[in-house]
Amino acid sequence: MDKMTLRDIEVGGKRVLVRVDFNVPLDEKTGEITDDNRIRAALPTIKYLTEHGAKVILMSHFGRPKGKVVDGLRLAGVAQRLSQILMQPVDIAPDCVGPEVEKMVANLKSGDILLLENLRFHAEEEAGDVPFAQALARLGDVFVNDAFGAAHRAHASISVITNYLPAVAGFLLKKEIENLGNILENPARPFASLLGGAKISDKVNMLENIMGKVDFLLIGGGMAATFLKAQSYEVGLSLIETEMLDTTARLTEEARKSGARLLLPVDVVVADELNNEAKTEVVPVEEIPKDKRIVDMGPQTVSKFSQALRNCQTIFWNGPVGIFEIPRFAQGTQELARLLANLGATTFIGGGSTAEVVNEMGLADKMTFVSTGGGASLEFLSGEKLPGVEALPDLE
Ligand code: 3PG
Ligand code: MG
Repeated sequence: MDKMTLRDIEVGGKRVLVRVDFNVPLDEKTGEITDDNRIRAALPTIKYLTEHGAKVILMSHFGRPKGKVVDGLRLAGVAQRLSQILMQPVDIAPDCVGPEVEKMVANLKSGDILLLENLRFHAEEEAGDVPFAQALARLGDVFVNDAFGAAHRAHASISVITNYLPAVAGFLLKKEIENLGNILENPARPFASLLGGAKISDKVNMLENIMGKVDFLLIGGGMAATFLKAQSYEVGLSLIETEMLDTTARLTEEARKSGARLLLPVDVVVADELNNEAKTEVVPVEEIPKDKRIVDMGPQTVSKFSQALRNCQTIFWNGPVGIFEIPRFAQGTQELARLLANLGATTFIGGGSTAEVVNEMGLADKMTFVSTGGGASLEFLSGEKLPGVEALPDLE
C-alpha cells in the first residue's frame, strides 16, 4: 500500500485522533454485542499508540441514527467491551465535539484512551460538513484512519478531516487494502468466487470487475433465485429482483466468454414459512413448488460446490447461501464455511454477514483473511476508489 502509516510518524505524547469502525452487530432483544471482531481488529493500532505514549482519542459511528441522539446507539457498551479486552480503562465522552469533550481531551495523559460518542448523532458527519470536521480536528494533533469498514463513506470524520490534520493509515486499514488487493492483483489459480446473500444489485459491479479473473463463479443464497428465474425455472415465492433479470443474463454470457464456470444450485431446500418451525423439503431446481420459497441449498449443490472449491487455490466468499439467521436454514452456509476452513487454499472472507457466520462458528482463525468491511470490501473489489483511502497522503 502506497499510503503513509502510523509507523511513518511520531506519536509519543501527541493527541492521536483515530477513526475506527466500531459499528458492531447487537442482539435485537438484549442489546448485547454479538460479534466484537471489529473492536478486536483495531487493537494493533490502539496498542501501538498506547505503547508509544500517545493520548488516544477514538471516534466511530454506530448504526444509522440520522443526526439524532438515539439512546440505543450510544457507544458506552462498546467502550466497556474495549476496556475489558484491553484490561485498561476506556473513558466515554458525552459527545464527539464541543467544550466538554475538549476538556476531557486536554486532561488525557500518555497511554490514556477516550472514546467519543457516536459521530452520527450529528447530521454534519454524514453530510461531510467542514466546520464539524474542523471541530473534530481540534481534538487531535494527528489523524489516523483505521476504519476500513467505513472507508467507502465520504464523511466528515473519514475524508474531510484529512484537510485539517496530518493524516495516516492505521494497521487495519493497511492490512485490509493489502489482502483485498491480492484478490484483484494476482490470485493463485484456480480462483473461485462464492457469492450469496439476498441481492445481485449489491454485487453486480464487483462481479463485473472480477469476471476476467475467476475460474469458478458459484452462486447461492437469495440471489441464485434471480439467476434461476432468468433461466426460466419456477422459483415459487422466492424473492427475485425483476430489474436484474437482464443483468443476470448478461453476467452469464460474460462468464461464458471469459471461460469462467458458473455454477448454480441443482437442488434447494424450500419452506412454506420463514421460521424454525416451517415445513421444509429438498427438491431439484426443476421442481420448485409454486407456493414455497427457497431457504437454503440442497445437499447435492453443497457437494457440487465443494468439489469445485476443493480444486481451487484462492477462494473469495461473500454472502450466506441460505437464510442463515434461521438456524434450520443455515446448513448449506455452515457446511461451506467448514469446508473453506479446512482447505489448503488461500481463503478471503467478505465482511458483513459472511464474517459474522465465520466468527460465530469460531472459524475465523482458519481463514486466510476475514474482512471487517461489508460495503467497503465490495466497493474496493468493484475497482472503485474509497474516499477514506484516497484522502490519505501517499508515501513519499
Ligand atoms: C457498515 O457496517 O457497513 C459500516 O460500518 C458502514 O456503515 P453504513 O453502511 O451505515 O455507512
Ligand atoms: Mg453498510
